[in-house]
Amino acid sequence: MEVFDKFTRPMRDLRISVIDVCNFRCLYCMPPDQDYEFFKNDEKLSPDEFVRLANIFVKLGVQRIRITGGEPLLHPKLNQIISEINEIENLVDLSITTNASLLTEKAPLLKEAGIRRITVSLDSLDPEKFKLMNGGRGNLDDVLSGIDTAIKLGFKELKINTVIEKGINEYQILPLTRYAREKGLILRFIEFMDVGNKNEWNMKKVLPSAEVRKIISSEFELKARESNFYGEVAGRYEFADKKGEVGFISSVTEAFCSSCTRARISSDGKLYTCLFSGRGFDLKTLLRDGSSDQSIAEKICGVWENRSNRYSEERQEALKNPRTHDIVEMFKIGG
Ligand code: GTP
Ligand code: 5AD
Ligand code: SF4
Ligand code: SF4
Repeated sequence: MEVFDKFTRPMRDLRISVIDVCNFRCLYCMPPDQDYEFFKNDEKLSPDEFVRLANIFVKLGVQRIRITGGEPLLHPKLNQIISEINEIENLVDLSITTNASLLTEKAPLLKEAGIRRITVSLDSLDPEKFKLMNGGRGNLDDVLSGIDTAIKLGFKELKINTVIEKGINEYQILPLTRYAREKGLILRFIEFMDVGNKNEWNMKKVLPSAEVRKIISSEFELKARESNFYGEVAGRYEFADKKGEVGFISSVTEAFCSSCTRARISSDGKLYTCLFSGRGFDLKTLLRDGSSDQSIAEKICGVWENRSNRYSEERQEALKNPRTHDIVEMFKIGG
């Protein structure tokens, strides 16, 4: 079965944030100088509840599931969640996004549980800058060692996500490009976005992807590539010498809402139809009040069919006025 929203976008991807806690404090997501409240025990979904929802979503046409956080490797029962989701019939892809601080220890378990692709967030190869960007909490060597462990284990695909904040880490564009080529990793540069309510975003801190491409082109010739599938987020380029690929996620300068097929669930069981949503739709209550799978599926269909989100396409207009309400925090829905 397939379900379509108001702009006939199918619901193909599900991103499940299994935990809102993180051991990093990235400037663009959870600035270190602020206080955070995390979900309490009774607010959080259990592994069985995550898996039940994943099953329902796959029956509604979701093909790919990505596990996110906070930092998902901090979840004590992550392996159970992943291995049970991996059993779902008709699921085409199961991936995870992590800061990799615990990956050296956890990568073998992820492989065993059924993770096929891993994306690691890595903004700098300069240890000082790395520390600054993650709020003084993470250690670059742990992340690099985690990546090496994952390479050795032979996952189907490994990616690096790099958020560029203008004036902070653009000098890392070429070093990261060289590193990714050398290690055989797909590198993606992400434009700093106005997600959440705390990162003091403004347009002056955004380095447009076109400029990132220019910097890379000063050393490596790039050729545009076709996208892999409808709804792919990154504009893909290959190196002319065929030694790998680099992608650009340009939500600010080249919005991709028109093919956005992503649903997101927070770890307290709310369904979000956009990264910039103010409120989520409460699924947890339905999971706990005796509702059948069929009735939960109908509610989800109703939410998706009513969906008309296209924030990135409306951003320039929206920015003309101050925000009138808070939007969901990135660490609660995992990017
Ligand atoms: P693949 O499945 O490998 O294509 O990964 P993906 O691009 O779906 O997922 P990933 O977690 O690597 O996404 C990278 C980053 O792109 C996220 O952390 C967000 O910052 C941003 N991003 C992903 N999806 C969206 C989206 O729908 N809208 C916006 N504005 N940004 C997104
Ligand atoms: N802008 C762009 N990407 C962000 N992420 C978190 N906050 C932001 C932001 N403000 C992305 C990072 C990280 C993922 C979990 O979320 O790419 O890899
Ligand atoms: Fe950084 Fe990801 Fe943690 Fe946010 S959730 S602070 S982006 S590591
Ligand atoms: Fe999808 Fe919202 Fe991002 Fe647009 S802004 S691509 S609708 S999540």
